[in-house]
Amino acid sequence: MVQEMAVFSGNAHPAFAEAVCKHLEMPLGGVEVFNFSNENTFVRFLQNMRERDVFLVQPFVGDVNTRIMELLIMIDAAKRASAGRITAVIPYFAYGRSDKKDQPHISITARLLANFIEVSGADRVLTANLHAGQIQGFFNMPVDELNAMPLIVEHFRSLKLDRPVVVAPDVGAAKDASNMAARLGGDVAFVDKRRDGNDETAHSTTIVGPEVRDRDTILYDDEILSGGTVEAAITLLQQQGARSIYVSCVHPYFRGPAFERLDSADITALVYTDTVPVDAGAFEHVPTHEISLAPLFGDAIHRIHTGGSVSALFR
Ligand code: R5P
Repeated sequence: MVQEMAVFSGNAHPAFAEAVCKHLEMPLGGVEVFNFSNENTFVRFLQNMRERDVFLVQPFVGDVNTRIMELLIMIDAAKRASAGRITAVIPYFAYGRSDKKDQPHISITARLLANFIEVSGADRVLTANLHAGQIQGFFNMPVDELNAMPLIVEHFRSLKLDRPVVVAPDVGAAKDASNMAARLGGDVAFVDKRRDGNDETAHSTTIVGPEVRDRDTILYDDEILSGGTVEAAITLLQQQGARSIYVSCVHPYFRGPAFERLDSADITALVYTDTVPVDAGAFEHVPTHEISLAPLFGDAIHRIHTGGSVSALFR
């Protein structure tokens, strides 16, 4: 029988795991995770694992491939230490954009990753806002996908904007933007974005939807990486006379030119969650607001442990 729960963190985002444990009013479990000089990863749990309900927190961020390997080895070590049940807690699931064969001779890496996690010995996965919901089906095990949108909506509601226009910076984000607009009592628009091959520069030429002139606008995307997608959308909104431009995302995976692009874009505020560690001090001009998902993950972990409903958390 699975006994008490234990939460551990890899090296990707220990502050997030600490915040989850704080919410659960329990200490973070002891584990050593480090690389030898030959870059081979070593994992050793520092407590009895037998029959424990184990939660391993590791978003795939930073040195992504190393963090993935760390998690796989943690799962294997927990399994071999006779853990009763192992949940891989992955607040940000990398390779989400590699979910289909949309070019010749490429891999479906999200599926490969799901296989690795399963083969390592995980029993369940807990994650948030996958790039495509269908990725859940890549796993032959239960996947609980949390939704940060209600918390982001709650923040914008508190700003009391007047019928904002929620703008999807590409067609892929349109469904989420529409959902957000409905929750906020606003309108929805989307940007026609095109990319040249695998280039990270986005070309956006048109906003499809209502007039944005003199309106409050909220750009919403699941993730921001180089910032190219939102930068192109911001330029269009500015050209079309939007009164304010808020930029929001779940996963702030800011890399490369992202900080400079966002900081110099003359936006009203940048809103994101803490699934990825962000150095907010790197922004000199744009006001930032971070929404913590740690309580949501903490509640989900508690419900998984006690057999409660997880979906009830994000209706
Ligand atoms: C793409 O489909 C995603 O939803 C994001 O729009 C994309 O990942 C953002 O990337 P970047 O910030 O590099 O344009």
